Amino acid sequence: MITAKKFLALSPDQVTSEAEKEFFASLKLRNGTYKTTFQGRFSEINRELRQLVGSGDITVDHILDIGISSGSNTLELYSALESAGHKSRIIGTDLMTEAYLVDVLPGCLALVDSTGYPLRYDIFKWSMKPWVVRSDYRTCFFIFRKLINISLGYRARKIIAAANSTRVQKVELVTPMLRKHASIIVKKDDITRYNRTFDGKFNFIRAANVLNRGYFTDDDLRTIIYNIKRYLVKPAASLLVMRTHENNDNHGTLFDIEEDGGCRILRRFGKGSEVEDLVLECMRKKLS
Ligand SMILES: C[S@@+](CC[C@H](N)C(=O)[O-])C[C@H]1O[C@@H](n2cnc3c(N)ncnc32)[C@H](O)[C@@H]1O
Repeated sequence: MITAKKFLALSPDQVTSEAEKEFFASLKLRNGTYKTTFQGRFSEINRELRQLVGSGDITVDHILDIGISSGSNTLELYSALESAGHKSRIIGTDLMTEAYLVDVLPGCLALVDSTGYPLRYDIFKWSMKPWVVRSDYRTCFFIFRKLINISLGYRARKIIAAANSTRVQKVELVTPMLRKHASIIVKKDDITRYNRTFDGKFNFIRAANVLNRGYFTDDDLRTIIYNIKRYLVKPAASLLVMRTHENNDNHGTLFDIEEDGGCRILRRFGKGSEVEDLVLECMRKKLS
C-alpha cells in the first residue's frame, strides 16, 4: 500500500482509479463509515440519468451529492450531464473533506481527523490501517496494530491538541479537480444533522454508498431521510439512493418525490435500494 503522504502528494493526473480505490477504502471514519470510492463507479447510471433528463422525467439544475469522498464521482456526474448539454450546479458534501498529516516520530506519520482520530499510519516506507481486520487474529498482527495505535495514535492526538503547526499538515481529501469548477461547491456537512441553508434548494439529490443499513441504524436513516426531504425543491424533485456491491454492481432506486406526501419509484437499478422501504415510509409521511 502506497503511503498516505505519497498518495496525497500525487497530482490529479497521477491518481489512478486503483490507487484512489486502495487509498480511500483504507480510511475508516470515527462514525464507522468508510471513504471507499473509485472512478467510473456510476458510468452506466450516469448514462441513464442523462436520458431521464432528456425525456424531462428529472430536473438536475441544482444537485446535492451526499457523502462524496474524493469527489471524483461528483465530477463524473457533472461531466456526464454537461456533455449532454445539461448545466447543473452541484453541492457535494461529506463529513470529512480534509484531514491532518502529523509528524509523530522521525519517519512516522499519522493521518488523523480534526480530533486526532487515526485514519492511517505511515511507518517509514510502509503504510498501515489503524483498524483491526479479521485476518489479524489468525496472524496475531492485531497486537502490533494495537501497539502502533497506542504509541503513534497517542502522540498524534497530543500534537493535534497542542496545535503544533510545524508538525501538522492539513491535507485535502477531495480531488483538487472539483475546485476548478465554479459550478461545483464542496462543503463539510453531517447529513445526520439538519442544515437550514439547504432547505428547499435541490431538485436532484444523490446519496451513493452512504445510506447503508451497515452504516446507520434505521432510526438514524429516518433522521437522514427527513433531512433530505426538507432539502428537496417543492413541489417535486428526485432522490437517487445507490449502493455498490462487492462485485461492483450498483443497486439503487430513483424516487420521484412530491410535496403533498407523494413518493413513487421512477426507476430501479439492479435490485433497487436496500433502504427503499424507509425512503417510501418517510417521504409519504407529512412533516410536522
Ligand atoms: C463509501 S463512501 C461513498 C463515496 C461516494 N459517494 C461513492 O459512492 O463512491 C461514504 C462517504 O460518506 C461519508 N459520510 C459518512 N457519514 C457521513 C455523514 N454523517 N454525513 C456526510 N457524509 C458522511 C464518508 O466520509 C464517505 O466519504
